[in-house]
Amino acid sequence: MNVLIIGSGGREYAIALALKKEEKVKKLYFSPGNGATDKLGENLDIKDYDALADFAKEHAVDLTIVGPEAPLVDGVVDIFKAKGLTIFGPGKAASQLEGSKIFMKNFLQKYGIPTARFIETDDLAKASAFIDTLTAPIVVKADGLCAGKGVIIAQSHAEAKSAAQGMLSGESFGDAGKAIIVEEYLDGYELSVFAICDGEDFKILPAAQDHKRLLDHDKGPNTGGMGAYAPTPLINEALYQEIDEKVVIPTLAGMKKEGMPFEGVLFIGIMIVGGAVKVLEYNVRFGDPECEILMPLIKSSVFDLFYKGATKDLKSLDIKISDQFSVGVVMASKDYPYKSSMPAEIVVDDIVHENLQNKAHIAYAGVTKEEGKLFATGGRVLVCVGLGESIQEARDNAYMLAGQVHFFGKKFRNDIAYQAL
Ligand code: AMP
Ligand code: GLY
Repeated sequence: MNVLIIGSGGREYAIALALKKEEKVKKLYFSPGNGATDKLGENLDIKDYDALADFAKEHAVDLTIVGPEAPLVDGVVDIFKAKGLTIFGPGKAASQLEGSKIFMKNFLQKYGIPTARFIETDDLAKASAFIDTLTAPIVVKADGLCAGKGVIIAQSHAEAKSAAQGMLSGESFGDAGKAIIVEEYLDGYELSVFAICDGEDFKILPAAQDHKRLLDHDKGPNTGGMGAYAPTPLINEALYQEIDEKVVIPTLAGMKKEGMPFEGVLFIGIMIVGGAVKVLEYNVRFGDPECEILMPLIKSSVFDLFYKGATKDLKSLDIKISDQFSVGVVMASKDYPYKSSMPAEIVVDDIVHENLQNKAHIAYAGVTKEEGKLFATGGRVLVCVGLGESIQEARDNAYMLAGQVHFFGKKFRNDIAYQAL
């Protein structure tokens, strides 16, 4: 089987690493990939989705997997399907679950899926009136995609109104903020749950926790995610069941009813409030770095999981999950998330420790290759993934590996998985 992976991050690298282990997977292509994916397959430079689909046809690609949200929201799945190709991910219509927070919230409300009380509006007076009915903190969200920056947790009514004003005027996020959600603040703990869906059936992966803030003790600015671990002990069988029954099943049934059956990764951002599940948001793709830690926990075929997801056949899949734990520590470049950093050569020490050889690896993200050398070129550079029989062991392995990776300005959090220890 030949597989094309769309994207260039650690998420896509991790999917490729998992696929590489399978005998039936022959050739891997990346579009565009990064400076390290070319060791796992072939990087392509084809920006136009029609041309990429033609390439996939000509090169007998059996399955295309889409990593990031932007191509999904742009409709890459529809383009590939129209050419008769097999592709894993939601179409343009279903991708609105991530592409429009207003679509998502209205959908949750229509199908009775638990979420924070909210209004949607494009009118500042209406927003202000609703803000006055809430107690601080108050949450204001831009409707459209804002690269993870479109959510403001305001600490006062005045701050909430000013955030709403900034968004509605177009100042803060351009068109993406021309309509907004104002909602109540949910006080609880946050989980990330991933359901692999084929439109009707689904498989749930072990629940993960992300670490969005840049610095230890959840301080500093928000980032795409500085580390993650799974499975988290903050979930139990009763909560998994509640998530199935109150969230995933009604979501798949509702999306089908709306004429846009959901195929792909449903990433459910959950807040557990007083023991009950509430949906914070949906994404329509894997989280990054959650994907990097989840891929090594899937013991059955990852190819089959995605292929069956793309061909409405998940029912026939017996997914096997490892009983190990996985911890991922993100290494970011010097000036992340503020600005791009100067390229810095990455040096990885020779790995001699047996634990590191067997129970740790690197998923590469923001890297380029020059004359055979790897350079950190920005953002989140790589993820050190550690596995173990306990969270502590997995974490020790991830941090031991992190100590063997060097580049100028490297930074990472020292407290990944603290919630579980
Ligand atoms: P979102 O992009 O909607 O997931 O929001 C980004 C982050 O803001 C989430 O991961 C939460 O940490 C936080 N957040 C969003 N909505 C709420 C809410 N209603 N109450 C508390 N925190 C929230
Ligand atoms: N790590 C969170 C995300 O990918 O959105």
